[in-house]
Amino acid sequence: MNVLLIGNGGREHAIAWKLAQSKGLKKLFIAPGNPGTAKCGTNVDIKADDYDTLLGFAKDNKIGLAVIGPEDPLAAGIVERFEKAGIKAFGPSGAAAQLEADKAFSKQIMKANAIPTAESRTFDNFQDAKTYIASRDEAVVIKATGLAKGKGVFVCDEPAEGIIAAEKIMEGKLFGKAGEKILVEDKLLGQEASILAFVDGRNIYVLESSQDHKAVGDGDTGPNTGGMGAYSPAPIVTDKLMDQITKEILVPTVDGMNRNGTPYKGILYAGIMLTQGGPRVLEFNVRFGDPETQPILMRLKSDLLEAMLATCDGTLDKITLEWDSRAAVCVVMASGGYPDDYEKGKVITGIEDAEAIKDVVVFHAGTAEKNGQIVTAGGRVLGVTALGDKIADAKAKAYQAVEKIKFEKAYCRNDIADKAIKAKN
Ligand code: AMP
Ligand code: GLY
Repeated sequence: MNVLLIGNGGREHAIAWKLAQSKGLKKLFIAPGNPGTAKCGTNVDIKADDYDTLLGFAKDNKIGLAVIGPEDPLAAGIVERFEKAGIKAFGPSGAAAQLEADKAFSKQIMKANAIPTAESRTFDNFQDAKTYIASRDEAVVIKATGLAKGKGVFVCDEPAEGIIAAEKIMEGKLFGKAGEKILVEDKLLGQEASILAFVDGRNIYVLESSQDHKAVGDGDTGPNTGGMGAYSPAPIVTDKLMDQITKEILVPTVDGMNRNGTPYKGILYAGIMLTQGGPRVLEFNVRFGDPETQPILMRLKSDLLEAMLATCDGTLDKITLEWDSRAAVCVVMASGGYPDDYEKGKVITGIEDAEAIKDVVVFHAGTAEKNGQIVTAGGRVLGVTALGDKIADAKAKAYQAVEKIKFEKAYCRNDIADKAIKAKN
């Protein structure tokens, strides 16, 4: 089967890398892809939001399955467009993708189905939001309700800080239309975990657990980013906890989406806070996580294409996924300055040396090819990912690989996976 994968980040390189190993794959095209995906298939120079051209390409190239990496095309309804043309597409419909694209919708689904999450209120007017925040005397979390590339959330220890965040989003239009409405949410305490599952409308197949590191600095300090590193499994998520998350969160979400007339298929990603009162949903995403996908897919032994087709066909109850029992750790190498301004076009060296280390894969995120060299082209540049017997071994190997890679103003966190290592020992 020919497959068209849409997207160009580290997540898409990991998906392309895994799909390239699938038995049923004939040709893999990636639109637009990056220099990493070019090693797994053929990059096609079509942007992820150029839906007409993508569909035309799919028809001309006998694409049997379109796999949509990022959330924007999903929220814009790309899946329906492919399906209408008779082409299978992996991901939710535009209406179901609102579970991520509209945090107010997501909260409504959670409320209607008694899914545990932080108490919150929605505002579409800054003055009302300000009055409400000022009336509170504890920490608040302010969230743009629309898509903001993982940066639309401000955790504020004081209401005064919350008002400033609300003002930046609503009056300063920091995220444009995505910030016309905000959520003001109670702050939750605990460790976080990312729980991803294949969902085919009815059946749920939960993947191995993982954990992301959203803050830019060591010790989870500084502003949130798209994700500075991840590991899998997350030892804090015991089998018992995974059962509880499935029963209390995933099952009622999938049922609730059916009842709402927006049936869900694709990857359902629940960002969870493990509070003293039990697991609570921080957010839903409607796609694979980035960078969680890198360690998760390094551990997946089964055929990814088969799992994606079962998701599209409603036959997830017929498949079994096998996992490498080892741990995987992904360290993101970013451009200095990210998530604020950063420079691009810095020559990257040492990727081959890093990949010469056994069980290391360097996933490209923000890279480009220029005059035969790989250069930086984004905030998150590379996801250096390693397998190891224990999480500490995987971490050591990932950082050993990071040491080999050089580019001007390269930045990474030095404590990826430490939480898991502490939890285990
Ligand atoms: P989200 O994009 O909604 O997952 O939020 C991004 C990050 O902000 C999360 O991974 C948490 O670290 C933090 N966060 C979001 N909501 C809350 C909350 N209610 N309480 C504490 N931290 C939160
Ligand atoms: N790593 C967080 C996300 O993909 O949204």
